[in-house]
Amino acid sequence: MKYAVIQVFIQRVTGLVCSIAATACLSISVIAGDATIASASDRNDESYHQDYVYGEPAEPSDAWRIARGGRLYDKWYAVTDVDKPEMTHSAWPASNTMKSGATTWRCKSCHGWDFAGKDGKYASGSYNTGIPGVRGVDDKDVGDIHAILMDDTHGYTHDMIPKNDMLHLAFFLSKGQYDITTYVNADGTVNGDAERGKAMFQNTCAACHGFDGRALNWGDEENPNYIGTEASKNPWEVMAKIRHGHPATEMISYAGFAMQDAADVLAYTQMLPAK
Ligand code: HEC
Ligand code: HEC
Repeated sequence: MKYAVIQVFIQRVTGLVCSIAATACLSISVIAGDATIASASDRNDESYHQDYVYGEPAEPSDAWRIARGGRLYDKWYAVTDVDKPEMTHSAWPASNTMKSGATTWRCKSCHGWDFAGKDGKYASGSYNTGIPGVRGVDDKDVGDIHAILMDDTHGYTHDMIPKNDMLHLAFFLSKGQYDITTYVNADGTVNGDAERGKAMFQNTCAACHGFDGRALNWGDEENPNYIGTEASKNPWEVMAKIRHGHPATEMISYAGFAMQDAADVLAYTQMLPAK
């Protein structure tokens, strides 16, 4: 804290002297620079980052709420850092023995990355449940959607997902859903400008994932899972990650930008090495 006081003092003096003599201004700025470094390192502490991952802004924008809601839709128990449910969800059909336990409680497991449920990608594969999508609540009342989450079929409680977050999730379904078929075709190709996407990728995603997307690997050495791998296999999922970020990490979100920006980045990620 003491640095902050010194800094304010130096800034005042700097402003004054700067308007009188440029040389003096320069030398005082050097001193001010030292003080600023100390205070910047204070901001680099763990809690500052944790606040981005788990906290909430004092005045959340609609785009922040949509990103938060999107991450909750992805894996709410990671977003809120609570214990995962152990039982298989009661609405998970017995006919699907490929999945059980916590993952059957994720919204995306029943309703899909494409929000289309049985009418989309989950018409087949290990997440096939025959459960419908959530496209029907696009632009519907947030309070009504909140009520659906607490109905007998769903059984979510405010102990599991705090009320604030449940409302962000409902807001996301009402205002933040998109029609994925506009951006990703049935065969997995993307309607986006990869050249534009490259410009965005190299200045945002690359900060953590590296210029070729191979700095982070969520597979293992033999079977790596890089952005390039994931974008070719499951562009529906990668679109969700770009729009909303990845639960429980500091990953950025493109919810504040146009949908087409995310589609352009997605198109470029399909050109990155898969191995
Ligand atoms: C285990 C499967 C399962 C999970 C997990 C699940 N749902 Fe559902 N959801 C259903 C079923 C089944 C229906 C259809 C209910 C009906 O027809 O009465 C449904 C319907 C809905 C609807 C109504 C759609 C419409 O068009 O009327 C919304 C909204 C919804 N779910 C949101 C969510 C959200 C948000 C989550 C995560 C917090 C979630 N669901 C998790 C099974 C699930
Ligand atoms: C501030 C750092 C950061 C930035 C910037 C960032 N990410 Fe991430 N991202 C992460 C971390 C950390 C993970 C988790 C990796 C893991 O599970 O090992 C992740 C995970 C992912 C995943 C999914 C992992 C999974 O489990 O399926 C995808 C896809 C992804 N990022 C794409 C992107 C794209 C595209 C961009 C740019 C729009 C981006 N990321 C920007 C940090 C970042």
